[in-house]
Amino acid sequence: MQVAVDGPASAGKSTVAKIIANKLSFVYIDTGAMYRACTVIARNHKLDYGDEKGILEAIDKDGIELRSENGEQKVYVAGKDVSKEIRTPEISANVSQVSALPKVREKMVSLQRQMAGKTNVIMDGRDIGTTVLPNAEVKIFLVASARSRAQRRLLDLKERGIKSDQTVDEIEKDIAARDYKDSHRKVSPLKKADDAIEIDTTNMSIDQVVESILAQIEKSQKKF
Ligand code: DC
Repeated sequence: MQVAVDGPASAGKSTVAKIIANKLSFVYIDTGAMYRACTVIARNHKLDYGDEKGILEAIDKDGIELRSENGEQKVYVAGKDVSKEIRTPEISANVSQVSALPKVREKMVSLQRQMAGKTNVIMDGRDIGTTVLPNAEVKIFLVASARSRAQRRLLDLKERGIKSDQTVDEIEKDIAARDYKDSHRKVSPLKKADDAIEIDTTNMSIDQVVESILAQIEKSQKKF
């Protein structure tokens, strides 16, 4: 079974996808982390964030790896754990540019499909239901107000122990700018798949969102 969870930044995708993966013993794949890893690679190689060719070569050289360690997904670049680094404001501010590069997307989508293979998988991102796994049995599109997403992002950074001097207003502005870029890029923009179920999480608890997605998975399993 394939479950696709798409939606804008900080709508709660990864939090709920991780919980569901643990509950159902599905493989969890955070595709945003992969584009963030590409951005770290561009930065490490001192490349322009629009230098598609240079970034592709650097990705091939360094390699991106997702590893599951003690139930947590870790991201490795050139054999080094960059799980924290990929969440820093510098990377967050530049990842939209890198993830809009068509050949970088092509490479990541092919990797993502390979990783999904034939196992039970829950994958979160922006284009999973539309492009990466168009035949996913369950497609969820999570949305929430920009304000509540900014508050969640701030909390998330604190919990991850990542220092940030940004206020909630600044984060909200960044999120709105990223939403715009992600929804207006030429290749695979953020878009709800026609057959996806939209859930507005603004006033929902994590448990409520998890329950609602689990109900959709159960419904879909009964069909087979
Ligand atoms: O989910 P996130 O905030 O970690 O994603 C980081 C960036 O990567 C985001 O700006 C959009 C991009 N992204 C994408 O273009 N396609 C995906 N499947 C996942 C993320």
